[in-house]
Amino acid sequence: MQTDSSFTFVLFGGTGDLSMRKILPALFEAHRAGGMLADSGKIVAVARHVADRGEYLQWVDEHVKPHVSKKGLDESAWASFLARIEFVKIDLGKPEDFTQLRDAIQDLPGIRVFYLATGPSLFVPICHALAAVGLNTNARIVLEKPLGYDLKSSNAINDAVGEIFAEEQIYRIDHYLGKEPVQNLLALRFGNALFEPLWRREWVESIQITIAEELGVEARGDFYDNTGALRDMVQNHLLQLLSIVAMEPPHSMDSDSVRDEKLRVLRALKPIEPLEIGKVAVRGQYHSGVIRGTAVPAYATEHGVKPDSSTETFVALKVEIENWRWAGVPFFLRTGKRLADRVAEIVVNFRPVPHSALGASALRAGANRLVIRLQPNETIRLYCLAKQPGEGMNLASVHLDLAFDQFFREGQMEAYQRLLLDVIHGRLALFVRRDEQEAAWRWVEPILNEWQASHKPPKPYAAGTWGPAAASAMLAQHGTCWLEEEN
Ligand code: BG6
Repeated sequence: MQTDSSFTFVLFGGTGDLSMRKILPALFEAHRAGGMLADSGKIVAVARHVADRGEYLQWVDEHVKPHVSKKGLDESAWASFLARIEFVKIDLGKPEDFTQLRDAIQDLPGIRVFYLATGPSLFVPICHALAAVGLNTNARIVLEKPLGYDLKSSNAINDAVGEIFAEEQIYRIDHYLGKEPVQNLLALRFGNALFEPLWRREWVESIQITIAEELGVEARGDFYDNTGALRDMVQNHLLQLLSIVAMEPPHSMDSDSVRDEKLRVLRALKPIEPLEIGKVAVRGQYHSGVIRGTAVPAYATEHGVKPDSSTETFVALKVEIENWRWAGVPFFLRTGKRLADRVAEIVVNFRPVPHSALGASALRAGANRLVIRLQPNETIRLYCLAKQPGEGMNLASVHLDLAFDQFFREGQMEAYQRLLLDVIHGRLALFVRRDEQEAAWRWVEPILNEWQASHKPPKPYAAGTWGPAAASAMLAQHGTCWLEEEN
């Protein structure tokens, strides 16, 4: 299929880490696949420290090519990809430089996409400079996270950007929404009559959502130390996943129907009172440890991190949703760096049978459970009890598996590729609307404030473990445990 939606994709922060690892490789994948990008579509990179197009293409060759999937790399596709790329040298601190950008793109056909892969402090100046040279029409703007540091700063950015671009021109990216399995969660819930009747307090005992990373803060110590896991992962990715798990069925998949339902969940989150924070929120920071046989240093000794830092690299929360569907069901959210494994998954624990005619083993944990593994190895696994072969009625937990890479052998798309195509084609459903973002900040902020006011340091955990013991104790109070603790 050949698309005729022409576009000019302007990439601010053209030599940044995100452009190198994610954005340009994703655009290349879309280019290589054929038919996804109009032939006339151009990529215009903007950077300050590069002399000209030749030097930029050399940089792309050296730095971006290693991040492109080897499967997709053929030299003629790579050469035709480079031919799409133009370059404009701009000092983002000098609004007058934007006339060069205007001259370079004003006669190009199709929609203009401005991708701000820069720090948030540059979002507003870039928007003003674009408006000053008349580039804010026939345009979409993509804002990377973090969008602000708290509700006030995020509102300040949204207000300022909103004076220049209308809400339907603004694409706030949360790359978790672009992941294939998150899309599948919508398909599972709203494409099958099987799960929906069970998806409620009467049948669900608790839900866990985990995003665990083995990686530390890498080269981003400075940024991370001013951010922490609550802002970096919970305010956005985890709350977005939660809202998709818990939302009511939308009446259609159009962007506002889906986003309206997610917003309702975010607004129904039970506020966490300062006095109960110790019971429902755990913050941790990694110390040195060993991950897969390799010793790794403590967070406080990472480059860019203050030695006495009290920034959290781990968060576990008990969250409740105050509505008829979910009242009283605990949602346990957890994320952390330098944990024992890299895994993102959603665990739905259904209630045990009300009376066991089959003996006590029918009440055992480990059955009545749906595990949606987002990464790695995307699978949906339904655990049930079955009779063990042989004499007697002995039950064992067994599972039904749907492994997506075996079922659909090809066609998997990286999150950034899907989201960039959505921006180019004007599909907003997978982008965060301003009111969703505000609701998420509003809920998260009292936790941040309380942590800051209490001056209590985060609880230590050794790298390569599953975080502080307090995170397990929190679940034990509800008679449950994290999934990996059962095995
Ligand atoms: C980013 C965070 O949004 O998500 C990073 O800023 C984190 O700290 C990353 O490592 C995780 O994304 P993924 O897709 O690798 O799970």
